[in-house]
Amino acid sequence: MKFPITLTVNGVPHSIDLDDPRVTLLDLLRERLHLTGTKKGCDRGQCGACTVILDGRRINSCLTLAVSHDGADVLTIEGVASGNELHPMQAAFIAHDGLQCGFCTPGQIMSAIGLVMEGHAGDDPERVREGMSGNLCRCGAYAGITEAVLEAQRKMANPDKPDLAKPDHVKERAA
Ligand code: FES
Ligand code: FES
Repeated sequence: MKFPITLTVNGVPHSIDLDDPRVTLLDLLRERLHLTGTKKGCDRGQCGACTVILDGRRINSCLTLAVSHDGADVLTIEGVASGNELHPMQAAFIAHDGLQCGFCTPGQIMSAIGLVMEGHAGDDPERVREGMSGNLCRCGAYAGITEAVLEAQRKMANPDKPDLAKPDHVKERAA
Protein backbone atom coordinates (compact mmCIF):
# COMPACT_ATOMS: atom_id res chain seq x y z
CA MET A 1 0.00 0.00 0.00
CA LYS A 2 1.22 3.49 -0.86
CA PHE A 3 0.61 6.69 1.03
CA PRO A 4 0.93 9.60 -1.42
CA ILE A 5 1.69 13.08 -0.11
CA THR A 6 2.80 16.36 -1.59
CA LEU A 7 5.24 18.65 0.17
CA THR A 8 6.82 21.92 -0.84
CA VAL A 9 10.37 21.89 0.43
CA ASN A 10 12.47 25.05 0.09
CA GLY A 11 10.05 26.28 -2.54
CA VAL A 12 10.19 23.07 -4.61
CA PRO A 13 7.04 20.91 -4.85
CA HIS A 14 7.48 17.16 -4.34
CA SER A 15 5.00 14.33 -4.84
CA ILE A 16 6.06 11.37 -2.75
CA ASP A 17 4.68 7.87 -2.36
CA LEU A 18 5.42 6.67 1.14
CA ASP A 19 5.71 2.90 1.58
CA ASP A 20 5.25 3.20 5.31
CA PRO A 21 3.08 5.72 7.19
CA ARG A 22 5.53 5.62 10.10
CA VAL A 23 8.26 7.53 8.19
CA THR A 24 9.17 10.66 10.09
CA LEU A 25 9.53 14.01 8.38
CA LEU A 26 13.23 13.89 9.31
CA ASP A 27 13.81 10.57 7.58
CA LEU A 28 11.84 11.71 4.56
CA LEU A 29 14.00 14.81 4.21
CA ARG A 30 17.27 12.97 4.70
CA GLU A 31 16.66 9.65 3.01
CA ARG A 32 14.09 10.36 0.28
CA LEU A 33 14.94 13.95 -0.62
CA HIS A 34 18.65 13.72 0.28
CA LEU A 35 18.52 16.96 2.26
CA THR A 36 21.06 15.86 4.84
CA GLY A 37 21.65 19.31 6.30
CA THR A 38 18.91 18.53 8.81
CA LYS A 39 20.62 16.34 11.42
CA LYS A 40 19.50 13.33 13.42
CA GLY A 41 20.85 13.68 16.93
CA CYS A 42 18.67 11.93 19.47
CA ASP A 43 15.71 10.97 17.20
CA ARG A 44 13.42 11.47 20.20
CA GLY A 45 12.74 15.18 20.53
CA GLN A 46 15.44 16.03 23.02
CA CYS A 47 18.23 17.80 21.12
CA GLY A 48 16.74 20.05 18.40
CA ALA A 49 19.28 18.99 15.76
CA CYS A 50 16.41 18.10 13.43
CA THR A 51 14.62 21.47 13.62
CA VAL A 52 12.94 22.70 10.42
CA ILE A 53 10.27 25.30 9.80
CA LEU A 54 6.94 23.75 8.84
CA ASP A 55 4.14 26.08 7.73
CA GLY A 56 5.96 28.95 9.40
CA ARG A 57 6.66 27.31 12.76
CA ARG A 58 9.67 25.54 14.24
CA ILE A 59 9.26 21.81 14.64
CA ASN A 60 11.39 18.82 15.62
CA SER A 61 11.15 16.83 12.42
CA CYS A 62 12.06 13.58 14.20
CA LEU A 63 8.86 13.74 16.22
CA THR A 64 6.34 14.10 13.42
CA LEU A 65 5.16 11.74 10.73
CA ALA A 66 5.56 12.90 7.16
CA VAL A 67 2.17 11.47 6.21
CA SER A 68 0.43 13.92 8.54
CA HIS A 69 1.79 16.93 6.65
CA ASP A 70 0.31 16.45 3.20
CA GLY A 71 0.37 19.84 1.44
CA ALA A 72 2.72 21.46 3.95
CA ASP A 73 5.47 23.98 3.25
CA VAL A 74 8.85 23.02 4.73
CA LEU A 75 11.95 25.16 5.02
CA THR A 76 15.25 23.46 5.79
CA ILE A 77 18.78 24.77 6.22
CA GLU A 78 19.40 24.16 2.50
CA GLY A 79 16.73 26.73 1.64
CA VAL A 80 17.64 29.75 3.76
CA ALA A 81 20.48 31.28 1.75
CA SER A 82 19.65 33.44 -1.24
CA GLY A 83 21.95 32.23 -4.00
CA ASN A 84 25.50 32.90 -2.79
CA GLU A 85 24.28 35.27 -0.08
CA LEU A 86 24.04 33.71 3.34
CA HIS A 87 20.92 34.31 5.39
CA PRO A 88 21.67 36.92 8.09
CA MET A 89 21.36 34.19 10.73
CA GLN A 90 23.97 32.05 8.98
CA ALA A 91 26.31 35.02 8.66
CA ALA A 92 25.84 35.95 12.31
CA PHE A 93 26.65 32.41 13.49
CA ILE A 94 29.93 32.62 11.59
CA ALA A 95 30.72 36.14 12.81
CA HIS A 96 30.09 35.24 16.45
CA ASP A 97 31.64 31.75 16.50
CA GLY A 98 28.26 30.22 17.23
CA LEU A 99 29.58 26.76 16.44
CA GLN A 100 32.46 24.38 16.93
CA CYS A 101 31.89 20.92 15.43
CA GLY A 102 28.81 22.20 13.59
CA PHE A 103 26.58 19.18 14.11
CA CYS A 104 23.89 21.10 15.98
CA THR A 105 24.23 24.20 13.81
CA PRO A 106 21.56 23.60 11.13
CA GLY A 107 19.00 22.97 13.86
CA GLN A 108 20.22 25.97 15.85
CA ILE A 109 19.93 28.24 12.82
CA MET A 110 16.47 27.00 11.85
CA SER A 111 15.29 27.36 15.41
CA ALA A 112 16.78 30.86 15.60
CA ILE A 113 15.10 31.93 12.36
CA GLY A 114 11.82 30.53 13.69
CA LEU A 115 12.29 32.37 16.96
CA VAL A 116 12.76 35.68 15.16
CA MET A 117 9.80 35.00 12.84
CA GLU A 118 7.65 34.32 15.90
CA GLY A 119 8.63 37.77 17.21
CA HIS A 120 9.94 36.30 20.45
CA ALA A 121 13.65 37.04 20.19
CA GLY A 122 13.67 40.65 21.39
CA ASP A 123 16.98 42.11 22.52
CA ASP A 124 17.22 40.39 25.87
CA PRO A 125 19.85 37.61 25.94
CA GLU A 126 17.86 35.73 28.57
CA ARG A 127 14.80 35.62 26.30
CA VAL A 128 16.94 34.35 23.46
CA ARG A 129 18.46 31.65 25.68
CA GLU A 130 14.98 30.60 26.79
CA GLY A 131 13.68 30.61 23.22
CA MET A 132 16.62 28.49 22.07
CA SER A 133 16.58 26.12 25.04
CA GLY A 134 15.26 23.23 22.97
CA ASN A 135 18.45 23.18 20.92
CA LEU A 136 21.37 21.51 22.66
CA CYS A 137 25.03 22.01 21.75
CA ARG A 138 27.48 19.40 22.97
CA CYS A 139 30.34 21.79 22.19
CA GLY A 140 28.89 24.46 24.47
CA ALA A 141 28.88 27.25 21.89
CA TYR A 142 25.94 28.90 23.64
CA ALA A 143 27.51 32.31 24.19
CA GLY A 144 28.21 32.76 20.49
CA ILE A 145 24.80 31.39 19.53
CA THR A 146 23.04 33.95 21.73
CA GLU A 147 25.14 36.79 20.31
CA ALA A 148 24.42 35.60 16.78
CA VAL A 149 20.66 35.47 17.32
CA LEU A 150 20.66 38.97 18.83
CA GLU A 151 22.61 40.41 15.91
CA ALA A 152 20.65 38.60 13.23
CA GLN A 153 17.28 39.57 14.63
CA ARG A 154 18.35 43.22 14.50
CA LYS A 155 19.35 42.81 10.86
CA MET A 156 16.19 40.91 9.97
CA ALA A 157 14.12 43.71 11.52
CA ASN A 158 16.07 46.42 9.66
CA PRO A 159 17.65 44.74 6.65
CA ASP A 160 20.12 46.71 4.51
CA LYS A 161 19.01 44.49 1.69
CA PRO A 162 15.42 43.42 2.37
CA ASP A 163 15.56 40.64 -0.19
CA LEU A 164 18.40 38.99 1.69
CA ALA A 165 16.75 39.10 5.09
CA LYS A 166 14.47 36.22 4.35
CA PRO A 167 13.92 34.05 1.29
CA ASP A 168 10.61 34.76 -0.41
CA HIS A 169 8.89 31.68 0.93
CA VAL A 170 9.95 32.65 4.49
CA LYS A 171 8.64 36.17 3.99
CA GLU A 172 5.31 34.79 2.81
CA ARG A 173 5.01 32.56 5.84
CA ALA A 174 6.02 35.37 8.20
CA ALA A 175 3.43 37.76 6.76
S1 FES B 1 16.97 14.49 16.45
FE1 FES B 1 15.04 15.46 16.71
S2 FES B 1 15.16 16.43 18.64
FE2 FES B 1 17.02 15.29 18.48
S1 FES C 1 28.77 23.01 17.59
FE1 FES C 1 29.18 20.96 18.20
S2 FES C 1 27.30 20.27 19.00
FE2 FES C 1 27.00 22.40 18.70
